[in-house]
Amino acid sequence: MAHGSFCAADTLPAPDFAEDHMTTHSNPDKTYAPDPAFAKAAHVDAAGYEKMYEASMADPDAFWAEQGKRLDWIKPFSKVSDVSFDLGNVHIKWYEDGTLNVAANCIDRHLETRGDQTAIIWEPDDPKDDAKHITYKQLHRDVCKMANVLETLGVRKGDRVVIYLPMIPEAAYAMLACARIGAIHSIVFAGFSPDALGARINGCDAKVVITADEAPRGGRKTALKSNTDQALLHCKDSVKCLVVKRTGGQTTWTSRDYDYNDMAMEADDVSKPVEMNAEDPLFILYTSGSTGQPKGVVHSTGGYLAYAAMTHQYTFDYHDGDVFWCTADVGWVTGHSYIVYGPLANGATTIMFEGVPTYPDAGRFWEVCEKHKVNQFYTAPTALRALMGQGNEFVEKYDLSDLKVLGTVGEPINPEAWTWYYNVVGKGKVPIVDTWWQTETGGHLMTPLPGATNLKPGSAQQPFFGIKPLVLDPQSAEVIEGNDVEGVLVIANSWPGQMRTVWGDHERFEKTYFSDYPGYYFTGDGCKRDADGDYWITGRVDDVINVSGHRMGTAEVESALVAHEKVAEAAVVGYPHDIKGQGIYAYVTLMNGVEPTEELRKELEKWVRTEIGPIAKPDLIQWAPGLPKTRSGKIMRRILRKIAEDDFGALGDTSTLAEPAVVDDLVDNRMNRK
Ligand code: WTA
Repeated sequence: MAHGSFCAADTLPAPDFAEDHMTTHSNPDKTYAPDPAFAKAAHVDAAGYEKMYEASMADPDAFWAEQGKRLDWIKPFSKVSDVSFDLGNVHIKWYEDGTLNVAANCIDRHLETRGDQTAIIWEPDDPKDDAKHITYKQLHRDVCKMANVLETLGVRKGDRVVIYLPMIPEAAYAMLACARIGAIHSIVFAGFSPDALGARINGCDAKVVITADEAPRGGRKTALKSNTDQALLHCKDSVKCLVVKRTGGQTTWTSRDYDYNDMAMEADDVSKPVEMNAEDPLFILYTSGSTGQPKGVVHSTGGYLAYAAMTHQYTFDYHDGDVFWCTADVGWVTGHSYIVYGPLANGATTIMFEGVPTYPDAGRFWEVCEKHKVNQFYTAPTALRALMGQGNEFVEKYDLSDLKVLGTVGEPINPEAWTWYYNVVGKGKVPIVDTWWQTETGGHLMTPLPGATNLKPGSAQQPFFGIKPLVLDPQSAEVIEGNDVEGVLVIANSWPGQMRTVWGDHERFEKTYFSDYPGYYFTGDGCKRDADGDYWITGRVDDVINVSGHRMGTAEVESALVAHEKVAEAAVVGYPHDIKGQGIYAYVTLMNGVEPTEELRKELEKWVRTEIGPIAKPDLIQWAPGLPKTRSGKIMRRILRKIAEDDFGALGDTSTLAEPAVVDDLVDNRMNRK
């Protein structure tokens, strides 16, 4: 999630290599039952969960019709779902004849009852600068202005707008302004490089890119405008660039640039929300898969919003008046669903944090919790692992008594980090929800509910309402019934928040998610169902790795490496990393005659940073004179993963290799990795 190139792990010394504290998939000795008083006041208690889950399975359309009512419709829907997971005919439609506007649901409908309530608290990178409290009325005004600015630039319903901004209120304004006029936004995380930005602008054929002069984070600044200028060198001349002033830092100005602050001053502060169909795309978000370049995940208007709002309310037991803080960046799906759309649809007060967990020191999260009296706090295990190593005094000096629910997302949480979160941050009183979901799912698919679940550290535990998970045998694709079993995780039915397609490539959508296990949505994750029927996510079963909670395709890093003139071949795998969860391990074969030097190693690290972004920089590079391949030329990643994990006893059958000696060489030379 959220921490990006600027994640806590990057600002701390690297931990010892391969001390694996990450294996978590066993049943704990202890579970944590909900506090009876909490359960009583909660939206859902244990009995309530059973009842509602059963209802969602017994008559899904009736259940989801009811949930659809949490939104304000311009024209109410009469049809609830039309779904097929059949290869060649995959389609997913929810509330398809209803019309609505997302910005109206997130802002306008609250004006009468809570116009003067704070919608967004903005907490800047530097704690010495003032936080901003933006009311629903102010949000309405600024979103309308941004909508009018975009219309002046020629943006119309269905057009794409790329957003490349720091975590500033304008990022939320831009998202909601697009939604208001029916444009489709695609946010690119501000830690991505110009090349990655350019590819995404072209990928969705955007008309406008919105950026800022600079992004301050952790006391450093990233030159976003200059990155955007570089990206636009590879884009059509017609793409316009709208520039928000954040630091006032110097930028070059070209004929395609427009000054947001000037234009907003002139712009009208009312704008009529455009009537959208429930199935119209709300946004595209690029995410990594196991093959090829990142794909544009498309989310819908009606179903997505209903699901984001519903999960935000139930998972966090959100009540009116609560202050909710998700530490993600809006560049990731977590920021979309749980900073902006879910909380604002529910009329919440949501915090947008520009900074990092370790700046100015490791107490920042807790200082902000105290300052804004945060009730629900949602972060990534990687941040917790980084902070727990810094000492409890950073937590203990702040008053955290307003916390009611703690959450995690992005990767499995190891019991040590869970227990620290529970005891030190939550003082043994605050339930933790370990939410499992994906960019593709729009919202949580499995999570404990704070008033209902006996918590087990490290387990996502139970399906959310309406979700039917199954464990399959990876080889035979047969359903594994019963408990105490392990396999790959698929979902047997659809839910309104499910992605609808891959932008511009429906065939890729079908192939990626519906072809390996026909009839099901394949998650790409492995999982275990324990003796009690609780689910434990065991991690990706494909070539996707999860670095500091960020999803990365090993193929992307490989193609960046081989684009370097001195590199002949590269293979990238994940390996256990104490703080990041997984680190990036690259085996690199150099061109004939090129000497492996320290300088070259540094050059390659830098190269990957520029090609993709700092989050993709390899943690370890090992020079590999050869890579283990089958006789048909396929790289045997299983073996490379084992070597990266120092697990040589389990290299498995190497007899099908073209040159088995290559493996011995890699094992012998592994100490030269750096
Ligand atoms: C992993 C982030 C274990 C998983 C919302 C999934 C998790 C991938 C958890 C999606 C969790 C996410 N426990 N693993 N609570 N949450 N994951 O698309 O492997 O960035 O497939 O979405 O993160 O990552 P994405």
